[in-house]
Amino acid sequence: MQLSVKHLLGIRDLTRQDIQLILDTATEFKEVLQRPIKKVPSLRDVTIVNLFYENSTRTRISFELAEKRLSADTINFTASGSSVSKGETLLDTVNNILSMKVDMVVMRHSASGAPHFLAKHIPAAIINAGDGINEHPTQGLLDAFSMREKLGKLEGLKVAIIGDIMHSRVAMSNIYLLKKMGAEIMVAGPPTLIPKYIKEAFDVRVEYNLKKALEWCDVANVLRIQLERQNQVLFSSLREYSLAYGINKRLLDSLNKEVVIMHPGPINRGVELDSDAADSKQAIILQQVENGVAVRMAALYLLSGGRGTMN
Ligand code: CP
Repeated sequence: MQLSVKHLLGIRDLTRQDIQLILDTATEFKEVLQRPIKKVPSLRDVTIVNLFYENSTRTRISFELAEKRLSADTINFTASGSSVSKGETLLDTVNNILSMKVDMVVMRHSASGAPHFLAKHIPAAIINAGDGINEHPTQGLLDAFSMREKLGKLEGLKVAIIGDIMHSRVAMSNIYLLKKMGAEIMVAGPPTLIPKYIKEAFDVRVEYNLKKALEWCDVANVLRIQLERQNQVLFSSLREYSLAYGINKRLLDSLNKEVVIMHPGPINRGVELDSDAADSKQAIILQQVENGVAVRMAALYLLSGGRGTMN
């Protein structure tokens, strides 16, 4: 089977079948990653550039590892230390890299729509590794993979996305994906961090009370306050945010069920999540990171045409 898209720019463009195919392929690659020899020849002779115009720990390392596990040749580009500081444009930078016979581009950029712009101008397949406040499709996929792995299904699952919804590309990719797969979604947080249009536009529940959100959901996907994307004051202080919307073990223990805690990282400990909750048995945060490699292997493999062997 093949994906219906040439690029992975966002979950918005994927069909339910595409999502199912990526998650099922990731399950097979996760099995490969449990073996003593974790490497397969699937992308031998494929060259991939990881183009990071914005900081990253998990996504950049995870893509690089996924590429190495698939036997691809990889090049890592970070904007700092490059000729971007001399005024070179995104398109010139990418065309120069592609002239060295590069086949695929993984790109993170602070500008929403940057990978979509690139897709109109270059022949190589592009994977969006996070663009501004728009989408972070592989994070959405690895979140869904982790939910399915933990709870056995996506259909009918109650997922609360909690925190700075307004500036979160992770929230957008989660919403697109979970809606397509039949989950129920609630967004929760302070009114100033939840877009007014979201309830009608995306058919999601909105809740401003954290405890009520936690009482409703099976899974809480907790988000970081994206201070770097806020150009005005949207809440009084981090301390007050934490008092109203911070999750700790005492709060989790006061619920009448065990909610699964997720976070895309990086965590601001003591703000949206206290250590006793982040490091508890209810949290699957490091499993999310582990699953990111298998999910990215699946995305890379399928976008390359899926012609090589998976074994
Ligand atoms: N989840 C995520 O995108 O983390 P990084 O910013 O470290 O890549």
